[in-house]
Amino acid sequence: MSTAAEQNPLAEGLRLRRRPDPCILVIFGASGDLTSKKLIPALYSLAFRGLLPEKFGIIGAARSDESDDDFRDRMKQAVKDHARDPFRDEVWEQLAGGMRYVTLDFADEQGEDLLREKVADLGRERGTGGNCVYYFAVPPSAIATLVAKIAERRPTEGWIRLIIEKPFGHDLASAEALNAEIKQHFAENEVFRIDHYLGKETVQNMLALRFANGIFEPIWNRQFIDHVQITVAESIGIEGRAGYYEQAGAIRDIFQNHLLQLVAITAMEPPIDFTADSVRNEKVKVLKSLHTPGPKHVVRGQYGPGFVEGEEVRGYREEDGVAPGSMTDTFVAAKLYVDNWRWADTPFYVRMGKRLARRETTIAIQFKRAPHPPFEDGAAEGLRPNVLLIHVQPNEGISLAIGAKVPGQGMTIRTVHMDFLYGGAFREGLPDAYERLILDAMLGDATLFTRSDEIEEQWALVDAIVAFWQRDRPSFPNYAAGTWGPTASDDLLHRDGRSWRRH
Ligand code: BG6
Repeated sequence: MSTAAEQNPLAEGLRLRRRPDPCILVIFGASGDLTSKKLIPALYSLAFRGLLPEKFGIIGAARSDESDDDFRDRMKQAVKDHARDPFRDEVWEQLAGGMRYVTLDFADEQGEDLLREKVADLGRERGTGGNCVYYFAVPPSAIATLVAKIAERRPTEGWIRLIIEKPFGHDLASAEALNAEIKQHFAENEVFRIDHYLGKETVQNMLALRFANGIFEPIWNRQFIDHVQITVAESIGIEGRAGYYEQAGAIRDIFQNHLLQLVAITAMEPPIDFTADSVRNEKVKVLKSLHTPGPKHVVRGQYGPGFVEGEEVRGYREEDGVAPGSMTDTFVAAKLYVDNWRWADTPFYVRMGKRLARRETTIAIQFKRAPHPPFEDGAAEGLRPNVLLIHVQPNEGISLAIGAKVPGQGMTIRTVHMDFLYGGAFREGLPDAYERLILDAMLGDATLFTRSDEIEEQWALVDAIVAFWQRDRPSFPNYAAGTWGPTASDDLLHRDGRSWRRH
């Protein structure tokens, strides 16, 4: 009998990539949103393309009481609601056949025994030979105990890999402590700290753009680039996650991880090859050399009520579960410098926030002006400096702003855009970041995961910023939902004679 993958035209993926070894994926935190909105739909899409191992099983583990059947039903609905591919019974049945659930209180020995039994039973049934990926979608406080237990009961055969979601710690000290705990039991190449931005096609394409083309690298430096702007704007609010967000704020939720990874990928030196260590060695050098020149160069904000995309929304302090006088930041803007020969004195302006005017993640490389435009006065009034714009999302693509002559008599120059849009250039839709990353972890490829030293450097910068913040108490809220953040964010660039890209 042919498998669902063989009947599926998209199984061509099989020819393109190595299939992972047989294995079981255990998801801690299986009752959470991440599992139903991202992980299971991503696994379905991998199954749809025939990219999962033939011998495969999934065990969901969480506190809530649920039977295997209930779990499967809930996940089936999750796939229907959130997967990017159409629902096909044969694909689902193959995946669901190896799906189990364990009720597990993370501090409870008995639950642990039950989990171990289920892993062993399912492993025997599916023939996965002891290989196991553990996915930690749980708060950092639960991770160390679980990791120690897994190590204690490590089977004699097969490999183990740990995928660890953020937040990885709360500050540098806690992240170091967690890294140290994990290192007692597992080697770095068994640990996959996930930052889903690295799984996004457009973020990986930044590496292709820079290192597969001869024309960019020679000008990718302080001599030709005036400054870099990185925006991670979201129109959504905190989506019912007050418990987590009140502790995290924008600085820990996005700045510490996604944003700093975008900076690292933009600023890194060419790696000698595309292996996990070579790529991460270069990123960590950037993170080590990053600094912000001082408290004046970091802006924090919190949204008040307003209108987002035409809809009236509450302020942050009015969100369910948020303290009425909360001082949590929902917006951060900062000026950063990368202290090395390539980038000295070239500002990286970054901003990120919730409830901004629209969803947009972009990296804008703004080049210096042409040194001497030989045109008559006024001819180039509408001309802006060249900008290479990487649209991470939405409308994924790359665009280059250049000056061009307006057709007609005389010489008038305006800015126009040369665009590459994924939608137009490639046939297939973009995979979700989680598809790429789960598969990479199963394959043992850590290139797109954060190494322990990277995560610690990221925290070191966050700690420095949080230390500035102890000194004053801004008056929150300081921006209306649906805008581009506090005015201080605009001032940050105006002081340098620059401004955020036009929206
Ligand atoms: C998560 C944050 O890591 O990234 C969320 O915790 C945020 O607050 C999300 O909404 C954004 O991811 P994406 O892929 O939608 O840009």
